[in-house]
Amino acid sequence: MTTRPDAEERFYDFVVVSNRLPVDSVVGGDGRQRWTQSPGGLVAALEPVMQSRDGAWVGWPGQADLDLEPFDTDGMHLVPVPLSALEVEHYYEGFSNDTLWPLYHDVIAAPSFHREWWDTYRLVNTRFADRTAEVAAQGGLVWVQDYQLQLVPKLLRELRPDLTIGFFDHIPFPPYGLFSQLPWRTQVVEGLLGADVVGFQRDADAGNFQQAVRRLKGYATKGSHIEVPLVDTSPGVRVYGPIKRGQASRTVIAKKFPISIDAAFYREAAARPDIRARARQIRGDLGNPKTIMLGVDRLDYTKGIRHRLEAYGELLAEGRVNPEEVILVQVASPSRERVLSYMQLRDEIELTVGRINGDYSEIGHQAISYHHQNYPRDEMVALYLAADVMLVTALRDGMNLVAKEYVASRFDSDGVLVLSEFAGASDELTRAVLVNPHDIDGLKDAIMAAIELPARERESRMRYLRKRVFENDVEKWSSGFLHVLVHHHAIVASASASASAGAGADSSSEA
Ligand code: F6P
Repeated sequence: MTTRPDAEERFYDFVVVSNRLPVDSVVGGDGRQRWTQSPGGLVAALEPVMQSRDGAWVGWPGQADLDLEPFDTDGMHLVPVPLSALEVEHYYEGFSNDTLWPLYHDVIAAPSFHREWWDTYRLVNTRFADRTAEVAAQGGLVWVQDYQLQLVPKLLRELRPDLTIGFFDHIPFPPYGLFSQLPWRTQVVEGLLGADVVGFQRDADAGNFQQAVRRLKGYATKGSHIEVPLVDTSPGVRVYGPIKRGQASRTVIAKKFPISIDAAFYREAAARPDIRARARQIRGDLGNPKTIMLGVDRLDYTKGIRHRLEAYGELLAEGRVNPEEVILVQVASPSRERVLSYMQLRDEIELTVGRINGDYSEIGHQAISYHHQNYPRDEMVALYLAADVMLVTALRDGMNLVAKEYVASRFDSDGVLVLSEFAGASDELTRAVLVNPHDIDGLKDAIMAAIELPARERESRMRYLRKRVFENDVEKWSSGFLHVLVHHHAIVASASASASAGAGADSSSEA
């Protein structure tokens, strides 16, 4: 990765705004600063989009109190937004990941509501909007990403009404019964309605958002269209209810755009001789078992790792799975390690892994090969190729790109995907072995079915899954979203131009 400071600041026609930049500043054990690829599916999905456009990416460089000049890396122009240590604690670890994250994921963990976290969330969202307003060209297109920045669309529209603004929510949008717990629910909805297009992973998410709009603002929704009045929304002015006749309004589109991956990258990487050799080596190092099962997740309570281990532990205990023939490789990449619920989860998972290994491993053969680490993409592809069964057992997940990466890597049309019906990916990947991870007996049966699936059935299912992933890759996601955004903006602009031309004609005739 090469980086160079960018001396003169330009204006950009296309700007992506996300909490994290695609690279993360980390300080190694030797005290030296270096850059790593940022965690998560958002960055993985947006990186190819940015590399193919001459745009700017506004985001946090991943380390507190790091105030950097804009710089270029890997064909992208990065504009860092600094956060103090207290802001990281209140905005990122607090409001984003201990309030919104659990609330938006079915309250799997209890959300915490703290007013000072909300105050910092607002402050940081304002800083992101200000920085974006400084780098976006006149009439430019801005694409804001994810739950950490839900107030940015409205703030940005107030600063720069000339911009076209899109927002994409990578995580689920909760049903109103849960969302309504949020003390600042109305401000969040108003923040999102500042966008021209609000994108979601599933129809259900878009529907939940529209319901929140109807309940909290009283605006009418029709299909994917929401009519938002153009009225004074300054503090103290309460706006509620549908548009009155003759009242000026703007239309916001809220609909699904399921995110995906750079599928060709995975197909090509998996076909490379060095990666295939590495996959064989992994199998050999694991003792060439009959079946390798694989889990790859950020270490997050939404991913259902505990349920997966419980099911696997019971299968071993009941003798339905022979530990000499089957191994589970679990990659649990470090995540949000200073948030209490994540610390507790890590303890719980590692205790369970230790117990299962203590009970069922032999010298030279483990029941679970557990890795609390991040691996480079090539190594992940080798792991996908080596794995006979991929376990994705999320309790709630916006999409789950790991499921799609596994499928795209299986150029041999082999391998079985066990997929939670609570992951957005299950809407498309309907020929995976679908499971309800809360149903431990059902999950055990699904794992056994996956292990025992005949070769012809594996192939026919995998071919179907691959077709879906290659038809809907990340290029299609981004171009689909941006097409709707640009098209919608053009319609709105021409409608307002003809309205003001009409007004101009009226006033001249009056004169
Ligand atoms: O899409 C979910 C998401 O929270 C992204 O916004 C984020 O980049 C990724 O997961 C990883 O999480 P974090 O940035 O908190 O490490």
